[in-house]
Amino acid sequence: MFEKFLERVAELKVIPVIALEDAGKAGDLAGALVEGGLPVAEVTFRTATAAQTIRTMADRGDVLVGAGTVRNLDQAKAAVDAGAGYLVSPGFNASVVEWAIDRNLPILPGVDSTLGIEMAMDRGLNTVKFFPAGASGGLAKIKALYGPYGDVRFVPTGGINAGNLAEWLAHPAIIACGGSWLVAKNLLSAGNWDEVVRLTKEAVAAAGI
Ligand code: 3PG
Repeated sequence: MFEKFLERVAELKVIPVIALEDAGKAGDLAGALVEGGLPVAEVTFRTATAAQTIRTMADRGDVLVGAGTVRNLDQAKAAVDAGAGYLVSPGFNASVVEWAIDRNLPILPGVDSTLGIEMAMDRGLNTVKFFPAGASGGLAKIKALYGPYGDVRFVPTGGINAGNLAEWLAHPAIIACGGSWLVAKNLLSAGNWDEVVRLTKEAVAAAGI
């Protein structure tokens, strides 16, 4: 399950990071991502409606839906109950990571340092989220980590956009990038699905998918 997930993420190359206030819009948003060519969503627990949004998107069956900003076990359990197929967290939470591993549930814990990488590798994980990517040293940090940690793969998130996506993805340690630029909050609240489709297609093109 974990390997298949990582393979799929490496194919998709971009994970839209979503903070949706109105779960009633989840179906339209998922439809826009599918139409744009990115049938994947990281639905963050930054809004109270995250579980309902996950459920609506997962029920469609055509989107790889996971939960983001998972900071504790209660959120992890709510995400899985709602149908999340993977978890993403901003930092390394050992309880959440170990709970997910016990269930063979894919998880991308956030790390920004050698310490985080060591904690992940200690638990058998060789792929992590690099967060916050831009503010933690950007691509220069990935290049520096690649020396001692050439076997680790990263999903940078935080400060990625259509303009710098290709540069990040060109590094061999990076399998995909996450970001909210293509699902910006103002587009979601306005229901501007045409623009989400356009930005998604732009991301797909920039990623060379
Ligand atoms: C995340 O939750 O992964 C990040 O906040 C997304 O970062 P971005 O908004 O800079 O894309």
